[in-house]
Amino acid sequence: MEIYRYRFFFFSGKGGAGKTTFSTLLALKLSEKFKTLVVSLDPAHSLSYILGKKIGEKPTKVTENLYALEVDIEGEMKNYLRKVKEEAKKVVSPLLLSEIEEQIELAYYSPGAFELAMIDVLFKVKESLSKEFKKVVFDTAPSGYTLRLVALPELLINWLDRLLSMRREALRYQRLSQLKEKKSLEEILSEDPVYRALTRRKKQYSSLRELLTGKDTLFGVVFNPQVLPIEVGKKTVEELESLGIPVKLLIANRFSDPSPLNSLFPDKAVIQVPPQEEEPVGIEKLKCLLHVIP
Ligand SMILES: Nc1ncnc2c1ncn2[C@@H]1O[C@H](COP(=O)(O)OP(=O)(O)O)[C@@H](O)[C@H]1O
Ligand SMILES: [Mg+2]
Repeated sequence: MEIYRYRFFFFSGKGGAGKTTFSTLLALKLSEKFKTLVVSLDPAHSLSYILGKKIGEKPTKVTENLYALEVDIEGEMKNYLRKVKEEAKKVVSPLLLSEIEEQIELAYYSPGAFELAMIDVLFKVKESLSKEFKKVVFDTAPSGYTLRLVALPELLINWLDRLLSMRREALRYQRLSQLKEKKSLEEILSEDPVYRALTRRKKQYSSLRELLTGKDTLFGVVFNPQVLPIEVGKKTVEELESLGIPVKLLIANRFSDPSPLNSLFPDKAVIQVPPQEEEPVGIEKLKCLLHVIP
C-alpha cells in the first residue's frame, strides 16, 4: 500500500473501532515526509484526547510537520443557517422573510442539517487549507453519518440541476414577454441572484464529490476483532462502494492473531494494529505504533 500517493484520507467504521486513533497514527506517519493536517469533524472532539493535547479551531502545531484541527460542528451549523438567511434576504421579499426565517430555524433541527454543515466544513478545509498542507486526514464521525454525508452531494447535484433549469426557463419566458428586450439570456442569468446562488452551490457539491471519490483520496474502513464490527464493517465497505467510493484500505485494529480480512477481501490492502495494553494516547505512545504502517 503506497500511502504517500494520496492527498486526502477518510476512515469509516463503528464508533470506538479506532478511527481517531488510526487517523492520528497515519497523520503522524505522513508527517515524517510531508506537512500534514489531521481534522476532526467528530462532535465528541476525541482528537484532543488521542493526541493528549488541547486542539483548537485553528490548525494547532503538534510536531514539526503535524498540525491538528477540531471543528466545532454546532457552531458551523449556526454559521451555515446565518448564511442561508443572508442569502434568502437578498432574493426574498421582506413580507415573506419572517416566515422564511422561521422555516430556517426549524431546519436546524431537521435531519440532514448536520450533514449539510459537514459538507460546508469539508469544503472550507479543502479550499483554504489544502494549499498549505500536502496531506489532510479527515477524522470523520461514525459510519451512519459518514455514509449519509457521502450520499448527499449526488442527490443535491441532481436536485440543483433541476432547479437551475427551472430558473432558466422562468427567466427565458420573462425575457420573451418583455417588449423591448435588450439583454441576452446568458447575461440575464449571470445577473440573477437565484441562478448565481444555485450555480455556486452546485460547484461546491461537485467539488465535494470530487474530494470524496477522486483518485487523490484514500477511503479506508476500520475493523475490530469482534464478530459484530466485522459484519458492520463489511456492510460499510459494500455501501461505500455502491455509492461509487472505492475502499482501498482496511484497518484490522486490535487484532492479535492474523485477521480474516485478507481472505474476506483478497484484493484490498490491510494494515493490522495489535491491541495495546495501555491506550495508545499521546504522541510518544503513538510513535511506538508507527511501524505497522508500511
Ligand atoms: N489498538 C488499540 N489498542 C488499544 N486501545 C486502542 C487501540 N485502538 C484504539 N484504542 C482505544 O480505543 C478507544 C476508541 O478509539 P478511537 O480511536 O477513539 O475510536 P473511534 O474514533 O473509532 O470512535 C480509545 O480510547 C483508544 O485509545
Ligand atoms: Mg473518533
